[in-house]
Amino acid sequence: MSRWDLAMSPHVTGGAGARQAVGALTAARTGPGAEVLLVADPGLAATPLIGEVTASLAAAGLGVTVFSDFTGDPTAAQVDAAADMARRTEARAVVAIGGGSALDLGKAVGAIAGDTAPAVAYQLCERDFPAATLARICIPTTSGTGSEATRTAIVTRADKAKVWLWGDAIKAHEIILDPETTLSLPAHLTAQTGIDALVHALEAATNGNANAANNLYAHEAIRLASRNLEAAVADGSDLAARDGLQRSAWLAGIAIDNGGTAVAHTIGHALASLRPLHHGRSVALGMIATLAWNLADDDGRFDAAARAMGLAGAHELPEAFERLTRAVGIKVSLADEFAGVTPDALAAQMARPENAAMRLSNRRRIEDGDLLVFAERVLTQA
Ligand SMILES: [Fe+2]
Repeated sequence: MSRWDLAMSPHVTGGAGARQAVGALTAARTGPGAEVLLVADPGLAATPLIGEVTASLAAAGLGVTVFSDFTGDPTAAQVDAAADMARRTEARAVVAIGGGSALDLGKAVGAIAGDTAPAVAYQLCERDFPAATLARICIPTTSGTGSEATRTAIVTRADKAKVWLWGDAIKAHEIILDPETTLSLPAHLTAQTGIDALVHALEAATNGNANAANNLYAHEAIRLASRNLEAAVADGSDLAARDGLQRSAWLAGIAIDNGGTAVAHTIGHALASLRPLHHGRSVALGMIATLAWNLADDDGRFDAAARAMGLAGAHELPEAFERLTRAVGIKVSLADEFAGVTPDALAAQMARPENAAMRLSNRRRIEDGDLLVFAERVLTQA
């Protein structure tokens, strides 16, 4: 007997130009004349997107206040400042546009603005979210994190620890997948965010929580990422490739919302806690360091994932994944950035409690000694 849990997924409006629907979709949830907090990625300031979204909201009769005063990896204080703005303007909805940081911040504000407690009060499920939440609309402009589909928001505390807020109150009500919103993403960020989506899909399809129902999402995400990533990196104006990658990231987001990630994310988070490193690159390196080890205990999950990638079987997966990583320009060697970091120090980071859930999700059991082997491998692979 098996039990397969699939969580509710937000409504999706997709296709080129779909961003123009944001006003109508938001007004349908708030009623006419409502105030909206537009959480806009500061990186989009030079693009026409913010103006277009604001115009669509205004045309639907909504009042708009823009919040852009945040960084990549938003802090709890920035979430609190945005939530204060939502309270002051009596916003009934949050529209978040940008990468994972903007979406995480917007989702968190939507969950907590109905009460006065700060974001950290809700960390690690320590407190229930307020009963009244704001409508949450996500417009991803990168194709990677899948934040638009998940119940998770990551915020950085004042002591630099990254903590998660989790629950249905965090999940978006509406997702707008408009591939045109990703056209301005530079090649190196397209590569690093896209490989994160592929790693999400591969881990959800092969970890201990994987099941046939969730694989409908994970395998399709693997198929779309592996077929579109190189094209989107090579030619950022390739709208079909952008569309495929965007759908991959969304479907992979659903897959990890249901099934979580695995050891590549344990390693990725541990690396990023020691040195500044893009999340996508760090998890790709974690994947390269562990794929062969995981394959040694495959019960068919990796074989099925490899076939979704267009390969003949699991035996081809390590080489194919590494080839793709290098082909999109992601540097595999950490020698420059991690000089002076010992394998012991990295293994200790992997063993920390905040990485325990990802480690436990891995289907092959990970002993402490394995962590040291992974650490040596990821620090020396060239
Ligand atoms: Fe990730």
